[in-house]
Amino acid sequence: MTPTEYEYLRKFLKDQSGLDLSADKQYLIESRLLPLARKAGLSGIGELVKKLQGSSSALTTSVVEAMTTNETFFFRDKVPFDHFRDTIMPEVIKARAGRRSVRIWCAAGSTGQEPYSLAMCLKEMGAALNGWRVEIVATDLSQEVLEKARAGIYSQFEVQRGLPIQMLVKYFKQAGETWQINPDVRAMVQHRQLNLLHDFSQLGTFDVIFCRNVLIYFDQDTKVGIFNRLARQIEPDGFLVLGAAETVVGLTDTFRPISDRRGLYRPNDPRAAAAKPVVADAAPRLVAMAGR
Ligand SMILES: C[S@@+](CC[C@H](N)C(=O)[O-])C[C@H]1O[C@@H](n2cnc3c(N)ncnc32)[C@H](O)[C@@H]1O
Repeated sequence: MTPTEYEYLRKFLKDQSGLDLSADKQYLIESRLLPLARKAGLSGIGELVKKLQGSSSALTTSVVEAMTTNETFFFRDKVPFDHFRDTIMPEVIKARAGRRSVRIWCAAGSTGQEPYSLAMCLKEMGAALNGWRVEIVATDLSQEVLEKARAGIYSQFEVQRGLPIQMLVKYFKQAGETWQINPDVRAMVQHRQLNLLHDFSQLGTFDVIFCRNVLIYFDQDTKVGIFNRLARQIEPDGFLVLGAAETVVGLTDTFRPISDRRGLYRPNDPRAAAAKPVVADAAPRLVAMAGR
């Protein structure tokens, strides 16, 4: 791959998905895109770049998807889900007792383990949510991961990563060598394709936003733009949950960290956030919680 081809791909990926590759990631591009180029009958990265310059939209999607990192697992990092159960939901249940509904957005849900972990947490709350309307919207850039998330089918290896055995037995059915999440849990999550670089105001406002392990791939300006737009989609008393390597500190004052609750943030003042400039611009299903 020539330096010019590498620069083209760096800019292309940044524009398409926000992925911010440093100057020395040629090996990453080659290991992920060479197999894709060969599969498409192209001689190598050079020919792939020429095709992209000719704006082949099918190839654009494949290249962007091949470069995303979709690593995820059930109850990843554990602590955010403890916070969800012990801090976030008790406050939401108190604050929304009047309207008895909660909206949760999993903003880079990948293959579904994160939104389904949240759905199982809610199931575990049992009677506390009886009669509540619960909505979990899981979005991701990649159609490929969304298809897997919608199917809710996981390998033995995937269910062994982070999922307590009691939850596996309670919320999954074995089908040959795979496990499928039960229909009632699956029905709690609505999966949608969404690029965080694009406008997401149509999703409405949420009580809780999980946006974990995706902003780490973006540059500072892109992160700030997304934080500012997330601030407009969160209730003034809502919660933002970030990944272990992510923070708002030093980037934006639209959210503030909650002390002693690592990874948890609250919006400062969404009206102030609405006045801030953004970097880029890009009907939900409700599930009634039945008694168990
Ligand atoms: C490393 S996974 C994190 C999954 C999950 N949140 C977790 O913490 O386990 C990152 C996900 O972000 C998605 N992603 C990357 N760029 C995106 C973008 N611009 N908009 C939306 N999703 C994006 C990828 O497709 C991938 O599934």
